[in-house]
Amino acid sequence: MPLQSQVDQTKLNAELDLNPVYVQEGTCEIPVYRLGQDGVQAATALQIVRDELILDGNARLNLATFVTTWMEPEAQTLMAECFDKNMIDKDEYPQTAELERRCVNILSDLWNAPAGSGATGCSTTGSSEACMLGGMALLWRWRARRQAAGLDSTRPNLVMGANVQVCWEKFCRYWQVEPKLVPMVPGRLHLRGPEAAAECDENTIGVVAVLGSTMDGSYEPVAEISAALDHLQATRGLDVPIHVDGASGGFVAPFLQPDTVWDFEVPRVASINASGHKYGLVYPGVGWIVWRDAAALPDDLVFRVNYLGGDMPTFALNFSRSGSNVAAQYYNFLRLGFNGYRRVHKACQDVALHLSGEIAKMGPFELLTDGSELPVFAFKLRDDVEGFTVFDLSERLRQRGWQVPAYTFPENMTDTAVIRIVVRNGFSRDLAGLFLDDLQRQVKLLDLHPHSHAPLVAPNQREAFTH
Ligand SMILES: Cc1ncc(COP(=O)(O)O)c(C=O)c1O
Repeated sequence: MPLQSQVDQTKLNAELDLNPVYVQEGTCEIPVYRLGQDGVQAATALQIVRDELILDGNARLNLATFVTTWMEPEAQTLMAECFDKNMIDKDEYPQTAELERRCVNILSDLWNAPAGSGATGCSTTGSSEACMLGGMALLWRWRARRQAAGLDSTRPNLVMGANVQVCWEKFCRYWQVEPKLVPMVPGRLHLRGPEAAAECDENTIGVVAVLGSTMDGSYEPVAEISAALDHLQATRGLDVPIHVDGASGGFVAPFLQPDTVWDFEVPRVASINASGHKYGLVYPGVGWIVWRDAAALPDDLVFRVNYLGGDMPTFALNFSRSGSNVAAQYYNFLRLGFNGYRRVHKACQDVALHLSGEIAKMGPFELLTDGSELPVFAFKLRDDVEGFTVFDLSERLRQRGWQVPAYTFPENMTDTAVIRIVVRNGFSRDLAGLFLDDLQRQVKLLDLHPHSHAPLVAPNQREAFTH
């Protein structure tokens, strides 16, 4: 398959067809895939780009994404005011840096970092970068321990469930760490304690526990995994730290499941990441990572630069980045407070539970999760439904603009195809009702015109859904 950025060679000389009302003088030829010789008026450029973008889906009808698709006008104004501030120039923009520091402190407090532990962290472009940093810290610590003991440090591995998001496979490939993926099996769709401990050995840099599996929204039992690793330490002397990938759950569990034990309360949890742009309720472009204490973040991962003015520590993979998302994160913390976040997420959860309950009652579906952990749930067709597939259903729902992904589970369960729905702020009970009506209508249609012999979406045309 060609890469998305690769252009069909026959299209290289294509030109934009300008509506005559936009042309200011003479003819205006604007190549599509090459830089035009002269520019156009600002208003013309704006109109052209807007015209192109009307082909994009409506973000609010996208039930596939975890990422924020609605913010208040005040937040948008604030973000626009901060676009020009470079997050990395902490000496130039000390107050933006201060807002980042406050956000890190708010999160470490929310995640129960022990008082005075010196928890440390930073903002990132998203959870992928945050996971990369968390993984690197585990790798560096393991290697230092092994080298100090005069042991082989060339074959690190990382233990996780096969349901992890692709960023962890990237981490392993980029840093040459062996991924030890515990397969999903029917009835156990994420990592559990005994399986995690069974995979660990002296080369294990850590275990990733996902709070809010991308596949079905379920929480991996961090406390159970930790207890299994405590037992491993007691019996085999292996001390394996945990990184919690709380991309979604890090911003949900503190508000909706305050009794779930998953964060720094668990002594084995060394670091936690979360996406500010998911249930942190900020537009795309911000993630967070917090380490329990300074010891969990090896000093040689921190670079100090003086060319920005002042002596600045930096430990993100990225360098320049707009300060607008961090300002917006702090805005949300101020604006909502604990109770506000709770109310927003509770409303999402109520909608998710309502939707999953109604879908379960429809007949052809079986729920795998119901939205009671993350406001996210997955369902599949019952085994005796043969006339159509979830891919057909997903395709038909697109006719009304709904984007609901159908996908198969990873290796070992690839014959299980599911649909996942992510309920986010702004997906109201009202919209949920309209979605249910459309779903019901499409199920009826597919029942009347089964596609088992001529599926709407042939197996080789099913678009892969990247988690
Ligand atoms: C569990 C998990 N980890 C990591 C990521 C990557 O997050 P981001 O898109 O913020 O880079 C995701 C995204 O869906 C996720 O669900």
